[in-house]
Amino acid sequence: MDSIIVRGGAELNGSIPIAGAKNACLTLMPATLLTDAPLTLTNAPRLSDIATMANLLRSLGAEVSTLQDGQVLALSSHDLTSHHADYEIVRKMRASILVLGPLLARLGQAEVSLPGGCAIGARPVDLHLKALEALGAELDLRDGYVHARAPQGGLRGGTVTFPLVSVGATENVLMAATLARGTTVIENAAREPEIVDLARCLSRMGARIDGAGTETITVEGVDRLEGATHRVVTDRIELGTYMLAPAICGGEVECLGGRIDLVEAFCEKLDAAGIDVTETETGLKVARRNGRIQAVNVETAPFPGFPTDLQAQMMALLCTAEGTSVLEERIFENRFMHAPELMRMGAKIDVHGGTARVTGVERLRGAPVMATDLRASVSLILAGLAAEGETVVSRVYHLDRGYERVEDKLGACGARIERVQGR
Ligand code: EPZ
Repeated sequence: MDSIIVRGGAELNGSIPIAGAKNACLTLMPATLLTDAPLTLTNAPRLSDIATMANLLRSLGAEVSTLQDGQVLALSSHDLTSHHADYEIVRKMRASILVLGPLLARLGQAEVSLPGGCAIGARPVDLHLKALEALGAELDLRDGYVHARAPQGGLRGGTVTFPLVSVGATENVLMAATLARGTTVIENAAREPEIVDLARCLSRMGARIDGAGTETITVEGVDRLEGATHRVVTDRIELGTYMLAPAICGGEVECLGGRIDLVEAFCEKLDAAGIDVTETETGLKVARRNGRIQAVNVETAPFPGFPTDLQAQMMALLCTAEGTSVLEERIFENRFMHAPELMRMGAKIDVHGGTARVTGVERLRGAPVMATDLRASVSLILAGLAAEGETVVSRVYHLDRGYERVEDKLGACGARIERVQGR
């Protein structure tokens, strides 16, 4: 297993290209299952999760080719050969559950392994299942799999009212509804930019969708969908992550392709902490206003609130802020695993349930630390950039799931960072 070594203290100056959104691509790829026509995705990120989804789709008989060094994905589900999504693949990546809705809509049946939990929480899929049942699906849970069948004549439109906002469940039922007979109304829908991006792509394929990005989405089912070419939206989580790099260690960095509308709630907190964000022709330029970062309080929420996927990275920034910050993690039940690792670097953090109180210290000190989940791992890299001495982050396979070549992107701006094999 690779590790990444960071020698802290260098200011960062330069520009970082922001890739296409992992969490948009992971729902756009299964959309190929809805049609026998080709679907092309451009601006695709080059990440291990994308490769995992490609392998899952191939196991169902879809063709997935990567072109232009992985930035273009050419997908075709003309000849599907299976409706079985195996545990061996699904257990590696929870987003695999997103083949369930499209398989049901296209083939009328699906057998998808339950994804199981992960480090940040139990992460049930009950909302996905209830939503598909509202479209007439008959589901049977046994042997760790969801055995799903559409009624005779296929799925039919229905009303889905989510008791809590779920990104994945909204995506699953939105895709299924495009081919269901009649009208589907999704209430309390997730409003994330990745949902809007999916709806944009589905509409290009001939789906009839209204209200994506609001809490109520209406879908008029159609008989079939066509192919399309779609550019994956910019990754707002990668964007926010790299915006924090100059914030944490000084200097000025332009995040190429960044857009304020993708990270508005996050930028409000950066502003309160004393960080300037300037829109340019080509992205977002970020620099500290002056002196020390100020403490701010953060509460994670579904979009357009503060993203849970940026909570760990924000905590890294607040570890050296002046004053005490309170972070409330309201989406997942166990998403503070980066806290004990940051404390090994000298951070003062008090965690009780979903609340973390961070009392800023002058400077963190480098230490060997361990990545536990995708976003926790990058928060340790960020902390290492500002820490005194050397930080060794182990188990960086977590990092490679969601960040393309992090050492190259930060290194190009002056960070002293390198990847070592198998330490
Ligand atoms: C998506 O996960 C993202 N993953 C996550 O990003 C992100 O943290 C999350 O949305 C919240 O924004 C992808 O898009 C691939 P949810 P998802 O359903 O869809 C509960 C990353 O780091 N819930 O919105 O799985 C759930 O336990 C990843 O890139 C149910 O109870 O998240 C959680 O507490 C991590 N039953 C809350 O809802 C369900 O059936 C929100 O989860 C589904 C979810």
